Amino acid sequence: LCRFAARTCLVTMGASSSSHDYSLVSTFTAPTNIALIKYWGKRDLEKNTPINSSISLTLNQGDLCTTTTVVLRHDFAADKLWLNGKEKVDFLTSRQFKRHRALLALVRARATSRYVGQGEGRHLVPAEELRKCRVHIVSVNNFPTGAGMASSAAGLAALTLALADVYGVHDAFPGELTTFARQGSGSATRSLAGGLVEWKMGAALDGHDSIGVQAFSEAHWPELCLVVAVVSDKEKKVSSAEGMTRGLGTSDLLRHRASVSVPRRLEALRAAYAAKDFPTLARLTMEDSNSFHATCQDTYPPVAYMDDASRWIVDMVHKLNGELDGEGGSASASAKASASKAASGIIAAYTFDAGPNAHIITTRKHLKLVLAALLAHFPAAKQAPAAASVGGGGSGGAAAAGSAPGPLIVGCAALEELGEDASTRAATLLAGAQELCATLPPVQGRERYEGRLAKVFVTSVGGSPIKLPATAAIASATSGEPLALVPM
Ligand code: ADE
Repeated sequence: LCRFAARTCLVTMGASSSSHDYSLVSTFTAPTNIALIKYWGKRDLEKNTPINSSISLTLNQGDLCTTTTVVLRHDFAADKLWLNGKEKVDFLTSRQFKRHRALLALVRARATSRYVGQGEGRHLVPAEELRKCRVHIVSVNNFPTGAGMASSAAGLAALTLALADVYGVHDAFPGELTTFARQGSGSATRSLAGGLVEWKMGAALDGHDSIGVQAFSEAHWPELCLVVAVVSDKEKKVSSAEGMTRGLGTSDLLRHRASVSVPRRLEALRAAYAAKDFPTLARLTMEDSNSFHATCQDTYPPVAYMDDASRWIVDMVHKLNGELDGEGGSASASAKASASKAASGIIAAYTFDAGPNAHIITTRKHLKLVLAALLAHFPAAKQAPAAASVGGGGSGGAAAAGSAPGPLIVGCAALEELGEDASTRAATLLAGAQELCATLPPVQGRERYEGRLAKVFVTSVGGSPIKLPATAAIASATSGEPLALVPM
């Protein structure tokens, strides 16, 4: 619909409008993405260009998304931001929002004259006047913020499109809006399109060729599934920006990775994706995640984003793939025998961004087995809430009848074969995984991870950001304040 350009999107008039009284309102949802070949290291700090190209899968917005409303009004005194229901009173001063402000300044500078109002009140607001108007930004993530789940990618992608919409800014060349998103957050460059998206590092000093490009649409490989295992929803201690700067200054491995390993892997990954060769895609994905975290370890002082639960998932996936022996291995092996496995044995891949939470990529065929393995490796807390719960779209849901306590399963927007609505699908999936898990021998050492797996998002590869109608705005067109607090 609005891929890479807000051109097709009408700006919604909010509230009343005389020549001195108008508001422009725009609301977008945007997806997160998970990099299979990671971005790590900035070539130009100010332009936010990378030292290597990267490639990611866009996640289904039906399951994980950011919703952002931008309200531009003639009488707002200052730019303001509300994130997840709370006003960020330091929006104009804090380093944390430096890139948000840079993005806002870039889009504002490109404002075009536009008509506001209807009927007799319809009139042209010159670009210079629009540039003087301040904006209120209201944004909500339906998943943990700042915990290595690409909240800034989704957040800054939605913000780019909503700002471009109210200021009447369109792509001057293909992918230009992705260069604006890049100024807000590097990984947002890849959240303006669906499917498999490449952020081409570019070479130009002004950064105009450092853009996000769709490599394959979400329709290319619909069998792919993603399982996001949330082992911590705490904000990371070392920001990605800080980790990258420290890494670039101290890690030889990081430079080698960017110049040698990544280009080779990117080429191989594009070919594997074109051929829908899962074992190769999986292997490249795991290798690149490991290589990225190795550069974090090679950084001085080192930065650790993965934790013991993350490494437990790494072992679990290799056991599932038949690449590791041992107690747990035999448990997984017997599970595998009961499921028809891929010829190569590789049925799942893990990848970790700058945080401990795992993104596990698999196919629909092996989804139940992956979830059963997670249940086998992460026993429910003894003091668990009343019942296992399931839900859809970030909201709660019905408890699976007769099931043991377990993690909250959320999502499944695309898994229509599992039931009519999201909570039925999640309940079916959880019940099936619990049944399969009960047939597995216990995994040695699992006690240590009791209660550590709080939430599991089950999702698929999804599409590009979506422009929502005026009725879906989450901010008031007159006050610009959140219409309802949505705590996350
Ligand atoms: N950073 C993390 N999430 C965000 C959002 N939804 N909007 C703006 N910045 C963000």
